[in-house]
Amino acid sequence: MAKIAESEWIWRDGEWLPWHNANVHILAHSVQFGSAVFEGVRCYPTSKGPAIFRLKEHLKRMFDSCKIYRMPMTFTPEQILQATRELVNKNNLDTCYIRPMVLRGYGAAGMVPFESPVEVYLPCWPWTDYLGAGALEKGVDACVASWNRVAPNTIPAVAKIAGNYLSGQLIKMEALLDGYDEAIALGPEGLVSEGSGQNVFAVSNGVIYTPPVDGTLLPGITRDTVVTIAKDLGIEVRVQGMARETLYTSDEVFLSGTATEVAPVRSVDKIPVGDGKPGPVAKAISARYLDVVHGRVADTHGWLTHTK
Ligand SMILES: Cc1ncc(COP(=O)(O)O)c(C=O)c1O
Repeated sequence: MAKIAESEWIWRDGEWLPWHNANVHILAHSVQFGSAVFEGVRCYPTSKGPAIFRLKEHLKRMFDSCKIYRMPMTFTPEQILQATRELVNKNNLDTCYIRPMVLRGYGAAGMVPFESPVEVYLPCWPWTDYLGAGALEKGVDACVASWNRVAPNTIPAVAKIAGNYLSGQLIKMEALLDGYDEAIALGPEGLVSEGSGQNVFAVSNGVIYTPPVDGTLLPGITRDTVVTIAKDLGIEVRVQGMARETLYTSDEVFLSGTATEVAPVRSVDKIPVGDGKPGPVAKAISARYLDVVHGRVADTHGWLTHTK
């Protein structure tokens, strides 16, 4: 698995810190209790310079996560947006992964976080190929996780916060140690929920299916992008509950996520999906996605934030 490739500067609450100076105390609330809201955003090179993909939507989700966890923000989304643009430029990167973080710092002794200040960090670093080199072209081998996703009204799945990723870690470690690239987890009702860091799609008779936002999964920005691209390409999308076995019997299965991008799944639990190769719908969506993020087609939905 990838190690972080360091960059130079990290933004913290309006100041620039050298990479190794962006530290928190061992008793910071977020270290003890997982209270670090975060986002994962990608920046791609385009002919007009670096462009951050769907930054506004990522920041909206970040502010919503903070709201759920009663974390007051002293910055506006516009201020964070501008700081993120500066971050990419200051680190002199055109391809990078940006990890905005809003966390509860040092102060509170126990679980109640109100005495811990809310701190905002913006790190970024070069990161490609989340599921390994060639994953988008060859497809990946997935399993169904033995761990279920969280149930509605337990830990909010729509909030992207560090503590939630204990679930993802269990799911992903199991998959890797069992020889798979990724795992798809079921929700508490036994229906398909999401991957450890991706949303899930299946294709049957030319129609794309994906599970609803039902309190067990993160509503991915890439999921929304896939749905919009599918509509643009004239492909029907149905959002509905999916039984586990549809992963075995569908013509195609694919995953979406900012880090993952759009990755075809070639087998689930060692059962080939379709003919065991990336199918035409996943390939078409993935290709259009890469064209959109790299600015090779017109930005008709206003998804690119240029940094310069
Ligand atoms: C659990 C989980 N589900 C889905 C996604 C996909 O979300 P997005 O497309 O916004 O990156 C992610 C990635 O952040 C994730 O961590």
